[in-house]
Amino acid sequence: MNVENAEPSLLARLRSLFILGRGVLKGLSEETAGPDPLALFTEWFDDAQRSGIYLPDAMTLATATKDGRPSARSMLLKGFDERGFRFFTNYESRKADDLTDNPRAALVFHWPRLQRQVRIEGLVEKLPEQESREYFATRPRGSQLGAWASDQSTPIDDRRHLEESFREHEARFKRTDVPLPPFWGGYRVIPEAIEFWQGRANRLHDRLRYTLGDDGWTVARLSP
Ligand SMILES: Cc1cc2nc3c(=O)[nH]c(=O)nc-3n(C[C@H](O)[C@H](O)[C@H](O)COP(=O)(O)O)c2cc1C
Repeated sequence: MNVENAEPSLLARLRSLFILGRGVLKGLSEETAGPDPLALFTEWFDDAQRSGIYLPDAMTLATATKDGRPSARSMLLKGFDERGFRFFTNYESRKADDLTDNPRAALVFHWPRLQRQVRIEGLVEKLPEQESREYFATRPRGSQLGAWASDQSTPIDDRRHLEESFREHEARFKRTDVPLPPFWGGYRVIPEAIEFWQGRANRLHDRLRYTLGDDGWTVARLSP
C-alpha cells in the first residue's frame, strides 16, 4: 500500500466536507434513501471512495462458532452487486471454520469522515472456484505467493518459517503464473438486513434498517 495514497487530495477533502455537511444537516430521509438498499449502498460506497478516505473498502467481518462464540476481524470488500458482498480469504482460517459450521456473518463499514456506518447481515456462501480464480489472477504476484505461503490462523514457530515458505513457493512457480491455491477463495454475504446510520446533531442520528421479506425490501426507522 502506497502511503502517499493515505493523503487525500484537496478536491477529495472538499468533496468529503460537502457530503459530511449535507448528511449531518439534511440527514437520511426515507425519501432520499429510496426503496433499494443496494442502490443506497452504491451511493454511499461511491461517496466514501471519492472522499479520499484511506481504505474505504475496509470492513469488519463478524462470524461465530456453532455454539455462538463470536469473533471479528478487518477485511477488504472485493465487489458487490444484487447477489451480495464479496471478500476473499484462506478457506482453512478461523473465519472459514466458523463459516463452515455457521454460515452467517455480519459486516460493518465505518466511514468516520462522513459520519456514516453501514451494517449488513446475512447468509454466506462460497464463491464458485472460477470466480475466485479470476479474482486471484488480478492480484499482484507477491500477494499470490503470500497466499500460498501462509497457513492463515495457524501458529508458527517464528517469522523465518513464513519467509522460507514464501521463497519456496517463489522457486516452485518461477516459470509459471501463480495458480489459485486449493485452500483459498471467496465468499459472498447474501444480505437479509442492511442498516444505514447517518450521524446528526445532538445524537439524533438517522438509522434506516432494510430487511428482506417475501415481497422484497422493507424499511424501518430505528431510534438512535
Ligand atoms: C484493513 C485490513 C484488511 C484486511 N483484509 C483482509 C482480507 O481481505 N482477507 C483476509 O483474509 N484477511 C484480511 N485482513 C487480515 C484479517 O483481519 C485477519 O487477520 C485474517 O484474515 C485472519 O483472520 P481469522 O484468523 O479470524 O480467520 C485484513 C486486515 C486489515 C487490517
